[in-house]
Amino acid sequence: MLTRGEILAWLRERDEARLQELWRRADAVRRERVGDEVHLRGLVEISNHCARACAYCGIRAGRSGLPRYRMGPEEILGCAAAAARLGFGTLVLQSGEDPALTAAWVADLVRAVKAATPLAVTLSLGERDETDLALWRAAGADRYLLRFETSDRSLFDRIHPAPPGRRSDRLAQLRTLAALGYEVGSGVMVGIPGQSLASLADDILLFRDLDLDMIGVGPYLAHPETPLGRPAGGGAPAFPDAGGDQAPSDELTACKVVALARLACPRANIPSTTALATINRADGREHGLLRGANVVMPNLTPPAYRARDEIYPDKACRDEDVETCAERLRCRLAAIGRRAGSGRGDARAPERLRAGPGAERCRCP
Ligand code: 5AD
Repeated sequence: MLTRGEILAWLRERDEARLQELWRRADAVRRERVGDEVHLRGLVEISNHCARACAYCGIRAGRSGLPRYRMGPEEILGCAAAAARLGFGTLVLQSGEDPALTAAWVADLVRAVKAATPLAVTLSLGERDETDLALWRAAGADRYLLRFETSDRSLFDRIHPAPPGRRSDRLAQLRTLAALGYEVGSGVMVGIPGQSLASLADDILLFRDLDLDMIGVGPYLAHPETPLGRPAGGGAPAFPDAGGDQAPSDELTACKVVALARLACPRANIPSTTALATINRADGREHGLLRGANVVMPNLTPPAYRARDEIYPDKACRDEDVETCAERLRCRLAAIGRRAGSGRGDARAPERLRAGPGAERCRCP
């Protein structure tokens, strides 16, 4: 089991030859514990309305000049049909924190997708009440993604202004999701201004403590239309960095976190994220897959909406249609000796998922 000291030493390692050892170990654990299949999850960004004002995010509340959209159920079902046709095992429904997506509306949508396709359904709709989460689980939702972004509470609070009368408690929500029988995903951004390498080591230990089923990690990408991404003017910066221990927001550090997440949580499903593919368009996606990742999430959002869902600028794959994207992806997987997964790519035994709320958490691979 990796100690905090070992994790931190890897995060600080700069020697390329030594890092080959980290990549080799992460890849070996990935192969042994989750195999060579790369699970494809079709991502649909169903709404870019957001009630929150996260300092780094391009769809934050109050950003003017961004056209907002909310997809209708028929359009979303069209995307679900495309996911099934393309052989993906999972549909991921993601949005800003949008109160207009009412609990009943989402539950109806989940039921409709489950009735029309064999897909697993993953929700990624932000911080929501336990009653909503329970309703969606009962409607058939299988998984939920909510990144905690950083385990450093004061950094979290600086970049996530609390909504009036409420304090974010993402860790409590992650525990609630597990108790409801969801497969639970979380993760972090790497290189947030103010994030130290020491706090990143704590993030990785928290992945293990939470016994996550899915772990999403990507580099922080500055968005110029946000408070965190705007070039600093004169005077004291509003978001000071962590000095000599500041985590770099680069591909290498993000890959280290992917590799260390694999070593800390051997059975987890870990995507090679779009943010990684964006920061290194040539082979960021492959680097993730060769350093611990076993999932890719092709974007199924209709092209008309895609440019409007800018959580960070210039997202990879933004302008490709989904057929082309899926075909190219399969070629790229074959080129690194991997193949697209068949089936849903669950992290836990299906009996446990069927058991639903109250089921004991399975710890087997
Ligand atoms: N850079 C990188 N990742 C970002 N996200 C949001 N904004 C940015 C950004 N500027 C990530 C967050 C969120 C996920 C959906 O996208 O980690 O949880």
